[in-house]
Amino acid sequence: MKKVLVIGSGGREHAIVYQLSRSPQVGKIFCAPGNAGIEQLAECVPIAETEVGQLLQFALSQRVDLCVVGPEAALAAGVADAFREADIPVFGHSRKATQIEASKDFAKRLMARHGIPTAEYRSFDRYDEAMQYVRSRRCYPTVLKYDGLAAGKGVVIAHDEQQARQALHEMLVGEAFGKGRVIIEDYLEGPEFSFMAFVHHDRVYPMPLSQDHKRAFDNDEGPNTGGMGAYTPIPFISDEEREWALTHIMQPVAEAMAAEGAPLTGVLYGGLIKTNQGIKVIEFNARFGDPETEIVLPLMQTDAYAVFHAIATGAPLSSIQWLSRAAVGVVMASCGYPGAYAKGAEIDHVDDFDGLVFHMGTRAQQGKLLTNGGRVLMCIAYADDIPSAQQKVYAEIGKIRCSNLFYRKDIAHWAL
Ligand code: AMP
Ligand code: GLY
Repeated sequence: MKKVLVIGSGGREHAIVYQLSRSPQVGKIFCAPGNAGIEQLAECVPIAETEVGQLLQFALSQRVDLCVVGPEAALAAGVADAFREADIPVFGHSRKATQIEASKDFAKRLMARHGIPTAEYRSFDRYDEAMQYVRSRRCYPTVLKYDGLAAGKGVVIAHDEQQARQALHEMLVGEAFGKGRVIIEDYLEGPEFSFMAFVHHDRVYPMPLSQDHKRAFDNDEGPNTGGMGAYTPIPFISDEEREWALTHIMQPVAEAMAAEGAPLTGVLYGGLIKTNQGIKVIEFNARFGDPETEIVLPLMQTDAYAVFHAIATGAPLSSIQWLSRAAVGVVMASCGYPGAYAKGAEIDHVDDFDGLVFHMGTRAQQGKLLTNGGRVLMCIAYADDIPSAQQKVYAEIGKIRCSNLFYRKDIAHWAL
C-alpha cells in the first residue's frame, strides 16, 4: 500500500486528500499542515507548507511514495525541487516553472514568444515612463498589474487617468508593494473560465472546465476575493472552443515551458476569457485552482494515485476518465471577508449537508469545529444538470449553522 504526503491546508488540499483516499492503492495519507476536515481522512503533521527542510525530512523518515504539493507558496519556496533532488516522486512544478504564475512579466514574454493569444501589454519599472505610456494611449479602461506576489491586490482596472496615476503611484513609488515592475495591458471583455490540466512536460491531460465567482457579493458586486463558488460544466464554451483552447493555449504553453528549460510537472491553470476576438489568456497559475478543484477533482474516475504518480514521474498514462455530471459549489466565508474578520466561531451540523463539504479554513478544538480563515467551507452538490445542482446546494446549505458565515446566493447564475 502506498504512502502519500499532501502539502497545504485549504479546500483544494482537502479535495486532493479526499480523492487519494478513494484510491485502492493508497494505505496512508499525511497532510502538512492540513485542517479539521482533512484530519478525518489523513494524519495531519504540524509543518508549515514552506518549511522545505522539515517537509523533506519528514517525507524521508516516513518513506513516502509520493508527495502532492497544493499551494503556490510551497512551489515558489522550492519544495518540489528539494523532493526531486532527493528522488521522491513529487507532483508539483520546480521553482523555475512556477514563474509562469509568480511573474506576470515572465508569463507575458513567454506568450509573446510563442504566439499565445493574450492582451497586448508593456511592462515598466519607472513611474514616469509608465505614466507617459498611459497618457499617450488614452485608452480606458486599462489594466495595471503589479508583477510579483501582492496578496490579491495586484490588479487594478483603471477607468481614467486619475485612477491610473493613483494605482501606478502605489505600485511603483509607494511603500506598500516593494520594488517591482508593472504590466500595463489592454482590457479584455467577455466571460472568464478556468481551464485546468495535468501536465508532465509536453503531455497535457485536460480537466473539465469550470468557472469561479471572484466578487464577494451577489450579482458580482463587492470586492475581489479568492473565489466565492464555482460550477461545471461551462455552457458558453462549446466542445470545439475547448479543443481550440487546448491546442492553441494549453498544449503550446506546456511545450514552450519544456523547450525553454522549465518543464511543468503538475497542474497548469489557465484563467481564460472568451472575447469577441476569440479565447485569450488572462493569467496562468501553476497549481490547482481554489475553489474550482473542489468541484472538478471528485469527478475524476481514473485512480488519483495513478494520475498524480504518472504526472510526477513521467510514467505512461493513456487517458484520464471523468464523470460527466454538473456540480455547483458554494463557499461559506467569515463575515467581513475579504477584509478583516474574526476567527473561532463554532460551526454545527456540517454532517447534515447532503453532498460534499471541503474545509477551507477550519480547526477542531475539544470536539468542536471552529472557523479559522476567510474562506471556511466549500459546499458542493452534484446532479445531472446545473439548475438541479444549484437547487440542491442551496436547499442543503441552510442546514449548516454558524453565526459568523455568509455565502453568495447566486453561484452558477452565468450558466442559467
Ligand atoms: P489576475 O490576477 O491576472 O488573474 O487578474 C485578476 C482579475 O482581474 C481577473 O480575474 C480579471 O477579472 C481581471 N483582469 C485581469 N486582466 C484583465 C484584462 N486584461 N482585461 C480584463 N480584466 C482583467
Ligand atoms: N480560483 C482562482 C484561483 O485559484 O486562482
